[in-house]
Amino acid sequence: MSTPHNAAQNGEIAKTVLMPGDPLRAKYIAETYLENPTQFNTVRNMFGYTGTYKGKEVSVMGSGMGMPSIGIYSYELYKNYGVENIIRIGSAGAYTDKLNLFDVVLADSAWSESTYAYVQSGVEGDIQLPSKELNEVIEAAATRINKPVLTARIHSSDVFYHEDNVPGVNEFYNEHGCVCVEMESYALFHNAKVLGKQAACILTISDSLVTHAVTTAEERQNSFNGMMEVALEAAIS
Ligand code: ADE
Repeated sequence: MSTPHNAAQNGEIAKTVLMPGDPLRAKYIAETYLENPTQFNTVRNMFGYTGTYKGKEVSVMGSGMGMPSIGIYSYELYKNYGVENIIRIGSAGAYTDKLNLFDVVLADSAWSESTYAYVQSGVEGDIQLPSKELNEVIEAAATRINKPVLTARIHSSDVFYHEDNVPGVNEFYNEHGCVCVEMESYALFHNAKVLGKQAACILTISDSLVTHAVTTAEERQNSFNGMMEVALEAAIS
């Protein structure tokens, strides 16, 4: 049955969904990697597709940017469509010069100042965890296809553009132990937990808040393929 945000009918979405933030990246993944992809959603241009990868059914759908957006789409996938696993694949800004552009990070926890978990279900605390089992599957997939990943804590931020008078990189890295920043995983991990489902997040470093290095759009396109392949291998494991 469709939702206000998703036109898919029951049975049109696979048990495992890869979620990039950008719906055009979902389209790219479907067209590049999936066999016989069919599009199940165009509502608000939040494109979603189901196809097969190496013969096994997988879906891919955009999440949009930020916790409210991924909160809506992931909740509906789990609750209305019987999705069991969501693997977010996104970009992140580095908080340490130990991370270079294009490095891949697997989140072992997401720290956040977000009120998402509290507002959603009264849960307090600034850390949400991914599925341990799914992370193990992802690490094994990465090893199999020879793609190094750093497993570490990430920051799920509510704000992209900050003024100078608020805590910055040093606090997030030194006090909270976050190696990089993105804007979605804390909400995704929380939804998975309250609904008894599995979630994970793989990130490619697209910019550095320490060195101020940035990737071009073309570089991002190519480098993100490695992360997508790890996620697809994990999805069919
Ligand atoms: N995703 C990629 N780079 C980011 C940054 N600098 N801040 C938040 N999210 C990001």
